[in-house]
Amino acid sequence: MNTRRFPFQRLSIKLTRPVVLVGLMGAGKSTTGRRLASRVKVPFEDADDAIEEAAGMTIADIFEIYGEAEFRDGERKVMSRLLGQGPCILATGGGAFMNDETRALVKETATSVWLKADLATHVRRTSLRDNRPILKRGNPEEILKKLIDERSPIYAQADITVESTDGPHQDTVFQIIRALQKFRSKGGTV
Ligand code: S3P
Repeated sequence: MNTRRFPFQRLSIKLTRPVVLVGLMGAGKSTTGRRLASRVKVPFEDADDAIEEAAGMTIADIFEIYGEAEFRDGERKVMSRLLGQGPCILATGGGAFMNDETRALVKETATSVWLKADLATHVRRTSLRDNRPILKRGNPEEILKKLIDERSPIYAQADITVESTDGPHQDTVFQIIRALQKFRSKGGTV
């Protein structure tokens, strides 16, 4: 096949451990992660889905019935379980990397990628679904702005930062793979 016409044909990477996508709600962790996993041929895991499955209820219900502290406790346990399963793409909930224990475990066992987007992108994407309890506590744009300010210094501790733009998700997937290749070429473990 003419690879010149298909320049991304061979753009992939063989993972030796999990790649963990971190970032604020609406960064595109799940959407991009699913596509990335299929591209690099490893399982896709979504921490939010795993929490809902383990609890047998939605995240909104966990927040409402048990409160955020209980949700965070479940999130920490689920992250620890998923990180022990070998190479995969793991999309995290936006608050997971804020937990000191989880962050230390991610640092030790995985390669972390911060999907970074601007406020307008977070606002637009999160407005498409009504499933995030934290954004119901007030004006979603103000909450997201505050969270960007509070959390960005922590997200920035990820091994790699990739801009999540409003273009096709596939562009972000390719950017992540190139960033992983570069990280490995500089001695990072991927
Ligand atoms: C949260 C983000 C959500 C979900 C929960 C709390 C957060 O995940 O885990 O609503 O604290 O930022 P997404 O980032 O996948 O929306």
